[in-house]
Amino acid sequence: MAVRFDIITIFPGMFSSVVDESILGRAVKSGLVEIQRVDLRDFTEDRHRSVDDRPYGGGPGMVFKPEPVFDAVESVLGEVGSAADAGVRKIILTPQGRRLDQPLLRELSGESRIVLLCGHYEGLDERIFEGLGFEEVSIGDYVLSGGELPAMVLIDGVVRLLPGALGHPESSEEESFENGILEYPQYTRPSEYRGMKVPEVLLSGNHAEIEQWRRQQALERTRDRRGDLLENRELQEKGAGAG
Ligand code: ADE
Repeated sequence: MAVRFDIITIFPGMFSSVVDESILGRAVKSGLVEIQRVDLRDFTEDRHRSVDDRPYGGGPGMVFKPEPVFDAVESVLGEVGSAADAGVRKIILTPQGRRLDQPLLRELSGESRIVLLCGHYEGLDERIFEGLGFEEVSIGDYVLSGGELPAMVLIDGVVRLLPGALGHPESSEEESFENGILEYPQYTRPSEYRGMKVPEVLLSGNHAEIEQWRRQQALERTRDRRGDLLENRELQEKGAGAG
């Protein structure tokens, strides 16, 4: 199923390289993904095309004004609650949001239309959240200068999950996080390089043993590097058992 993204941003040019190259570029060309960029400044009415203003109550920085954002969203979807608006995921990228992870990417890859609003400055006028039904998503506990790079991260993560976007359908199922653990180590030819050997089992042709080795390696890696993932899994399994 194809997905359409509408990206509302003050820097539409930032998306060019990402949209043109690699897996995403191919997905756009083949019609699997449609990406529309909407310049927020096209929805301003003053000479300076300003999208921000000083915060009520004082404090540093600037805040996104509601009017251009409401107008931009309505130009894309029509009125909130209209037929075009129904069933659309509306996401603001901000550090305050729900953390983006593989399950959320999977969920989003089942949507047909996603509107992304790239935040900036100290934040957005709260009425944008209240009045337009946006959900907030963060790509991690750090602060970037705007929501554009996070939007690209989200788009890339969603598109590669669409059937047909990757060369092999199973490519995205085998990898880190899909099973709640990290990926096992991979090797390719030559079988020995600068004295470093590929583990014997991988050359054995014994598929059952290879699978068992990979699973073991994945678990060890996850325990060493990301013990939190295993704890979460245990909690989930316990939860499922109790329910
Ligand atoms: N904007 C600035 N930092 C961000 C982050 N970590 N996630 C999403 N949007 C952001």
